[in-house]
Amino acid sequence: MSWRAEALDFREITFGSDEYKQTCELRNEVLRLPLGLSLYSEDLQQEKEQLHFGLFDHDAELIACVIAVLQKPGKAKLRQMAVKAGYEGQGVGRRLLLTLEALLAARGVTQLSLHARISAAGFYEKLGYVRLGAPFVEVGIPHVRMEKQQQSLNKP
Ligand SMILES: CC(C)(COP(=O)(O)OP(=O)(O)OC[C@H]1O[C@@H](n2cnc3c(N)ncnc32)[C@H](O)[C@@H]1OP(=O)(O)O)[C@@H](O)C(=O)NCCC(=O)NCCS
Repeated sequence: MSWRAEALDFREITFGSDEYKQTCELRNEVLRLPLGLSLYSEDLQQEKEQLHFGLFDHDAELIACVIAVLQKPGKAKLRQMAVKAGYEGQGVGRRLLLTLEALLAARGVTQLSLHARISAAGFYEKLGYVRLGAPFVEVGIPHVRMEKQQQSLNKP
């Protein structure tokens, strides 16, 4: 393996840029096509107000991405976390999320929430997120709401 998750380049991405278009492709491949859905049938204009982040390899290829939505003061919601096929289980998701948590904490965020696919809830638990409430269905598959508080942000 000629790469390490720690060596990937973490970047904030501008809505509408070429890097943003790469995130759409990755999210479509990982999060929508396997469900028989298309990201491009959704209203992506609302993402103009959201914060986009990615991890890139040395060839500027996007390996993982996630979106943060700032809500009430101090609160943010994470969405659309995706790691490129073939790169899962090697610390990429952890690197992306912990780096983002540190950035958001520095911007005053004290509480993060997300809707986790049940299949991925164990990943978020490893990073200190806790399940809240009963599972529900979103994009046709079971999800659960999860949260992480400030004192544990940027800590697994
Ligand atoms: C879920 C996902 C984001 C995790 O990223 P990743 O790079 O594969 O995870 P990491 O390698 O950083 O794993 C960190 C830890 O979580 C564990 N983990 C990873 N995926 C897991 C899962 N689906 N369930 C339970 N534990 C998981 C790893 O074993 C590792 O544990 P360790 O600390 O004991 O070694 C990624 O696999 C992915 O994009 N999956 C498909 C799309 C998806 O489900 N996105 C989330 C939507 S809510």
